[in-house]
Amino acid sequence: MSIADIRRDYNLAGLRRPDLDADPIVQFRRWFDQAVAARSTEAERMDVNAATAATVDAEGRPSVRIVLLKGVDERGFIFFTNYDSRKGQEIAGNPNVAMVFYWPDQERQVTIAGAASKISRAESETYFKSRPRGSRLAAWASHQSEVIANRQVLESRWAELQAKYPGEDVPMPPNWGGYVIAPVRIEFWQGRPSRLHDRFRYVKQADNRWVIERLAP
Ligand SMILES: Cc1cc2nc3c(=O)[nH]c(=O)nc-3n(C[C@H](O)[C@H](O)[C@H](O)COP(=O)(O)O)c2cc1C
Repeated sequence: MSIADIRRDYNLAGLRRPDLDADPIVQFRRWFDQAVAARSTEAERMDVNAATAATVDAEGRPSVRIVLLKGVDERGFIFFTNYDSRKGQEIAGNPNVAMVFYWPDQERQVTIAGAASKISRAESETYFKSRPRGSRLAAWASHQSEVIANRQVLESRWAELQAKYPGEDVPMPPNWGGYVIAPVRIEFWQGRPSRLHDRFRYVKQADNRWVIERLAP
């Protein structure tokens, strides 16, 4: 099949101005909860919290990767990573991050833009402790985004760490933790037939109010 012939129509639902909460975080939670509720098994719910996150380097060149949303509250959108990774270094140089969620079953996309900042070490540690031991060891073993000679390097580091931390007590690496993206712009996209999609954009004003506008699809 040719790539150009792959297409779908979107006809599940519409999105109207009265459907929207005045607060985009509340609106996001509503859509997120609906995406979760529509997935009845754990397998279906897998990666429902996956988002593509974009950062930019010193020359303004973007890079993207998927991260898992681990929380959302009045501060914004939280994910965890290695602060020395490429994304971490880019955020240190320029905190502007964009994020996109796509829920194909709901025919919905949400895009977010804002500045990322590190959450407190105490808050990161609370999450770190909830991760399986293997993930906690991996946070030490992987110098994320660095070039490595071969897989053996990773596996021998892993073996050393297994010996160093034989029990459940694996501390959080100093260069690991969460970021919160404080949104200044959030857009909700609902697919509609014939590509006449519904789009609403929230833009944060200087006085912290949100202005909502419909955008052409
Ligand atoms: C489904 C999925 C979930 C992921 N979740 C995370 C995550 O939460 N945090 C993270 O640092 N990397 C996550 N990754 C790996 C990133 O996509 C990426 O490879 C890594 O963070 C290094 O990115 P960077 O070199 O641009 O910093 C995930 C990848 C996939 C495919």
